[in-house]
Amino acid sequence: MSAFIVLGAQWGDEGKGKMTDYLAEDANVVVRFQGGNNAGHTVEVGDKQYKLHLIPSGILYNDKLNVIGNGVVLDPKALFEEIDYLKGVGVNVTPENLIISDRTQLIMPYHRVLDGIKEKCRGKKDIGTTGKGIGPCYTDKMERSGVRVSDLMHKEVFIEKLKENVEMKNDIITKVFNGEALSFDDICAEYLAYAEKMRAFVKDTSVIVYDNIKAGKKVLFEGAQGTLLDIDYGTYPYVTSSNTIAGGVCIGAGIGPTLINSAVGIAKAYTTRVGKGPFPTELFDETGDWIRENGHEYGVTTGRARRCGWLDLVILKTSARVSGLTSFAVTKIDTIAGLEKVKMCVGYKLDGKVIDYFPASLEDLARCEPVYEEFDGWDKGIENARTYNEIPENAKKYLKKIEEFTGTKISIVSVGPRRDQTINVTDI
Ligand code: GDP
Ligand code: IMO
Ligand code: MG
Repeated sequence: MSAFIVLGAQWGDEGKGKMTDYLAEDANVVVRFQGGNNAGHTVEVGDKQYKLHLIPSGILYNDKLNVIGNGVVLDPKALFEEIDYLKGVGVNVTPENLIISDRTQLIMPYHRVLDGIKEKCRGKKDIGTTGKGIGPCYTDKMERSGVRVSDLMHKEVFIEKLKENVEMKNDIITKVFNGEALSFDDICAEYLAYAEKMRAFVKDTSVIVYDNIKAGKKVLFEGAQGTLLDIDYGTYPYVTSSNTIAGGVCIGAGIGPTLINSAVGIAKAYTTRVGKGPFPTELFDETGDWIRENGHEYGVTTGRARRCGWLDLVILKTSARVSGLTSFAVTKIDTIAGLEKVKMCVGYKLDGKVIDYFPASLEDLARCEPVYEEFDGWDKGIENARTYNEIPENAKKYLKKIEEFTGTKISIVSVGPRRDQTINVTDI
């Protein structure tokens, strides 16, 4: 297998960073294809913990090529802050180990401002975005007024596009939202300085990724967010602004579907969500609080407390379908160890019928009642398991149910945040 996808099967924060790091060991290239620095991917290597937002998790190895694909929205300020952070912890980022697509859209200061203003205007109906300017940047991309990395590489083109944009955005900010105008000169000077720092990293990455696959190199596509945050298949409008599902790889990396061999869905052994929006299996009781504390469920990017609930197989089945998952990697099975009983949602009751797919309409979803199956719990010792045989029998039953319900095998079980706390069950 030479090209494979790692993506979130729920609402993000499933452990994609950890699993990318684990699976990247024998990959040559790691590619981010959507999202931006709204992502927060944690990787633990030995006793060190790294938090990545924009740069692919393969950067922690010193022999991988990391790619920021055209489908990503890139905030240069965040990029250079992340490069400095990595340098500070001994990880060097150079044009040898990181390349950026010339087609990538740039997040501009007005995108961040508009993200904040629009959220405020939504009042109680706010999405709970990360405030990084993701939505407004993708809006400009689709509206065809966005500024791309290739524009930044051509000073005159950049200045012209920036002028048009600042003028238009200032009108919106001041006249529609009563906000403060941004300074064209400040943004221009800031971004032209980034241009010079960025130039050596900029490449036509689609060509490089393609050539690597054709040469038999292993390429890992690292997803951000998760299936239910997908702009089309998520809980719209409580979603992010990109395609987080497997189809997003083709668009966001410029690679045809026939070149991709497998797709691993990362599924947490329970469910979490950060931000607003529906969440059928959410727990509002002590168990929910216990899972949050035990699983350190606080956002990597915003520090917000994550909402916690039981595992939802309807979500995993949907995820397996829309991304054609070849397997699941189940993470954090150790976090819910110690509970006497563990529940799992095996369908939604809607108007007297039980359904096993995720409805499009939030109104229908609100009327769905989760149907639960209860399992006996397992103990904390699971974090020391290193082979499938060492996994407690009750946890195995829990895992088997996931496979049966979704019709998708489990290839990896993760029993802790570190690289060595990973059990390889079968091929991905
Ligand atoms: P991502 O956004 O999908 O990369 O996930 P996050 O990094 O936002 O959140 C996952 C958290 O769970 C991180 O703190 C990881 O270190 C941690 N983690 C990943 N896998 C496991 C696991 O199997 N067990 C435990 N206890 N923690 C894990
Ligand atoms: P990783 O890659 C969890 C959520 C936000 C909000 C919605 C829209 O770490 O799994 P946005 O800023 O993207 O416009 O916010 O999406 N969100 C995430 N939730 N994990 C993430 O990334 C997320 N990235 C965005 O909380 O509900
Ligand atoms: Mg995260």
